[in-house]
Amino acid sequence: MGKGNLTVKHTPANTKIKPVVKWAGGKRQILNELMVRVPAKYNRYFEPFVGGGALVFALLPRNAVINDYNSELMNMYKVIRDRVEELIEDLKKHVNTREYYYKIRNIDREPERYNRLTPVEKASRFIYLNRTCYNGLYRVNSRGEFNVPYGNYKNPVWLDENNLRLMSEYLKNVAILNDDFEIIRDMVHEGDFVYFDPPYVPLNSTSNFTSYTDKGFSLEDHKRLKNLCDYVDRIGAKFMLSNSYTEFTLELYREYNIEVVKAKRAINSDGSKRGEIREIIVRNYE
Ligand SMILES: C[S@@+](CC[C@H](N)C(=O)[O-])C[C@H]1O[C@@H](n2cnc3c(N)ncnc32)[C@H](O)[C@@H]1O
Repeated sequence: MGKGNLTVKHTPANTKIKPVVKWAGGKRQILNELMVRVPAKYNRYFEPFVGGGALVFALLPRNAVINDYNSELMNMYKVIRDRVEELIEDLKKHVNTREYYYKIRNIDREPERYNRLTPVEKASRFIYLNRTCYNGLYRVNSRGEFNVPYGNYKNPVWLDENNLRLMSEYLKNVAILNDDFEIIRDMVHEGDFVYFDPPYVPLNSTSNFTSYTDKGFSLEDHKRLKNLCDYVDRIGAKFMLSNSYTEFTLELYREYNIEVVKAKRAINSDGSKRGEIREIIVRNYE
């Protein structure tokens, strides 16, 4: 053993880290199906649509790159990594009342006030709103204002100190990016593994796809993503991708290994009715 400070080189295998935010399309439903399909060995791990990060925090790969288009979300991960104690202190100031919720939520109606918030305060607000808003949704209007109503939950938990500290330790070796998913193209090399979890192609789409957009992710974007999958495949890296079970996705990925799995999902718009639906897991390996 050398002298001097010991640094943690990897996360112990029995560490359990829970996602901090509830996220639409969160993968907890099919997490086991994904886990058993992850390659036994790979170099670097990439997750370009990380969202709540169900898979990365279950796997805790040693050398990872996470990315998402949502800048509030990625600011949160950076703050958890770099300033976790300040974040924990700030999270303690919140209370679960309707009045307080709307006061905090509506800060973004005054851009000057919002811009004066520090990254820690932004992350704290983001986590608090995610945990106390209706259904853990993230939705902003055309002006970028968070517009989900108060959830009225009895005991929402927005502060789990131990979990935040574990996540902070883990993220110390993770590259955190906030860009379009194609940012990873030049970073992936032979032997790496990429998990793609894009916004799903909607189930009720018809075969006339060209005009369709879902939260800004169009069918053109899905084709762009398939193109990136082909690139990852060509350079000798592995990918796994989840998506909905539709004619479009089955056709788009037909040359790869497609498996159908079942997930319990909200099947109507208000999320009150749940049903079993089919989803697909696509891989370029067995
Ligand atoms: C299905 S969710 C991922 C859910 C995640 N696997 C989880 O467990 O919570 C898709 C994510 O893609 C992000 N996204 C949408 N368009 C994107 C783009 N062009 N590039 C990168 N991320 C994007 C969204 O912000 C969202 O977090």
